[in-house]
Amino acid sequence: MGKKITEKVTWVGKVDWELKKFHGDEYTTDKGSSYNSYLIRDEKTVLIDTAWLPYDKEFVANLKKEIDLNKIDYIICNHGEVDHSGSLPELMREIPNTPIYCTANGIKSIQGQYHRNWNFIPVKTGDTLNIGESTLTFIEAPMLHWPDTMFTYMDKENILFSNDGFGQHLASEHLYAHEVDQAVLYQEAIKYYANILAPFSMIANRKIKEILAMNLPIDLIAPSHGVIWKQKPTQIVEKYLEWSENYQENQITILYDTMWNDTRKMAEMIAKGIQNKDKQVTIKLLNTAKEDKTEVLTEVFKSKMILVGSPTVNNGYLYSIAGILEMIKGLKLKNKKAAAFGSYGWSGEAVGQITQKLKEAGFEIVNDGLKAMWTPNQVVKEQCIKFGEEIA
Ligand code: FEO
Repeated sequence: MGKKITEKVTWVGKVDWELKKFHGDEYTTDKGSSYNSYLIRDEKTVLIDTAWLPYDKEFVANLKKEIDLNKIDYIICNHGEVDHSGSLPELMREIPNTPIYCTANGIKSIQGQYHRNWNFIPVKTGDTLNIGESTLTFIEAPMLHWPDTMFTYMDKENILFSNDGFGQHLASEHLYAHEVDQAVLYQEAIKYYANILAPFSMIANRKIKEILAMNLPIDLIAPSHGVIWKQKPTQIVEKYLEWSENYQENQITILYDTMWNDTRKMAEMIAKGIQNKDKQVTIKLLNTAKEDKTEVLTEVFKSKMILVGSPTVNNGYLYSIAGILEMIKGLKLKNKKAAAFGSYGWSGEAVGQITQKLKEAGFEIVNDGLKAMWTPNQVVKEQCIKFGEEIA
């Protein structure tokens, strides 16, 4: 059953407690998620977004308990990705002529996925839809994070339906951000930003400033994943502004993989060197073969510098490092420094290759890198400590 948010707006989404992987295997969601859909009952009845495909029948059945589907005047599709549009085919079987409001790119993405010619109404930034006492205003937000994305603003109730923006992959029995553990909430929010929105930080920054300049009163920010921002809803907007401006904390993250623990020992000695010079900096050592990659990317996003280590194997480096470097490159992070390190037995190409990859990913290389032959002896351990001290 739905949960009432305001006099006119009811949450009719699906909380997915068991979601552990998202975007295939790309994003781990250990806290689950939700697909938030909102039903507005003014003089007109409006449904904003739906739920992910596996829950389509459950979504429509629950919606029927809330309202006679034939009373829905308009559907708004803020974003065509399947986690929000997946229940459309099941819903449109029941109400095939109901207009679907979305961007022109939204039509392309929905048609591209479902191959149906529903009654689409394309909208642009500033277009409005009067639904009685309230008016809905559409705000295109292309590449946040698909070309089709838009936000919908409802006046009188002062709600920004922001779709993926300001969301978190967090399943909760609660509806609102202030009702959940704040540390978990912010970790999930920054993880979401780092993994989904970071590549589009410049666009996000511009869009947020554009929305702030509209001076819209905002009482609620209702994203399509996780909890709704109600108490001081702009707190998450301020965070997004921070995160979208070359964000970094006083943190150095050391990523490594290791075959026989030699590169791990180097990582630990380097960390010791950093700490010798700087007691304040947060140092995180993450073995990329063992750590969750979504968490690793979040730590990279928070860092002012990363150090990446791998032994040389078959004239290259280990696959967990290759995978994470590819993912890091995709985030298009700016204003971050990096260097490489690793052990080797005879050829030792890994450090140079990793350095090159880090350069291509946009990192400022602060050191040519540290290579150590075989198992670190006392001399090499001291070199690692010195490397860490210099880095710090
Ligand atoms: Fe939550 Fe881009 O879909």
